[in-house]
Amino acid sequence: MQTLHSLDPLRRAVAELRETGKIALVPTMGALHEGHLTLVREARKRADHVIVSIFVNPLQFGANEDLDKYPRQLERDSALLQGEGVALLWAPTVEAMYPQGFASNISVQGVSEGLCGASRPGHFDGVATVVCKLFHQVLPDVALFGEKDWQQLAVIRRMARDLDLTQPHVDAVLGVPTVREDDGLAMSSRNAYLTPEQRVQAVALPNAMKVAIAEIERGEPVTASIARLGKVLLDGGFSSIDYAELRDADSLALRDERSTAPMRLLVAARIGTTRLIDNMAVTGQ
Ligand code: PAJ
Repeated sequence: MQTLHSLDPLRRAVAELRETGKIALVPTMGALHEGHLTLVREARKRADHVIVSIFVNPLQFGANEDLDKYPRQLERDSALLQGEGVALLWAPTVEAMYPQGFASNISVQGVSEGLCGASRPGHFDGVATVVCKLFHQVLPDVALFGEKDWQQLAVIRRMARDLDLTQPHVDAVLGVPTVREDDGLAMSSRNAYLTPEQRVQAVALPNAMKVAIAEIERGEPVTASIARLGKVLLDGGFSSIDYAELRDADSLALRDERSTAPMRLLVAARIGTTRLIDNMAVTGQ
């Protein structure tokens, strides 16, 4: 596995790989766990060469967020990726990604509004900008993203279609189902921030979501179910709820009572200062 930190060698390496087959890209911020490695394994099935990027992207962190304390463990991550048969680890420096004077921004309307877009202003501009750059740098045949970040996946799909980042008529932005711990908590690099006690409490998030979904699927009023979900989390040790909403699964539009389209329950909540997100399908409306 090659590891590269600057753009010229990356472009040369990408051109060489392309001569011998298709390229899959898996963008990450590192601190890799089984969720990330599942994306890599899916990528290997879909292309001849897998490129993984590790870049803790300053543009997508708000002023009071965890950019400085976000876990950075390149050596450990690199060993994991080597074991998965990754061809190239692209780990640009901040200067390589954002050269002096960088002044551009990609902003995707609609799907990036509300939910995480409301509680983390500017976050999806930062995500879209860096992912757009990664697509141009690597020119992947396919790129894989986790459903764990459902709204992020929707933003990237919209951007890829709008800005012709991938081949037409090919579903080149692939979503991979959320990988969970044995107790149901969605895997996340941020779970490392939880104290042992908070880690036990955190499982209330997927559990309460499953209860609310069962109620909604039985036809109980959505607002009341979601209110109960919030109370269960707060009673169970969560400090605040950023949002808990039922949305159209694809457009992320607010739910229309008469709609029979697939729905998604999306929640973001904090334990102490750690922010956890999760989302699950809701069927049978
Ligand atoms: P990061 O949080 O490192 O996640 C990288 C990829 O792994 C994303 O596509 C995310 O959805 C996926 N992922 C994380 N946890 C997962 C889980 N439990 N199951 C399945 N997939 C999971 O998301 C980002 O980085 C950044 O915003 C990025 C897209 C790299 C842009 O900077």
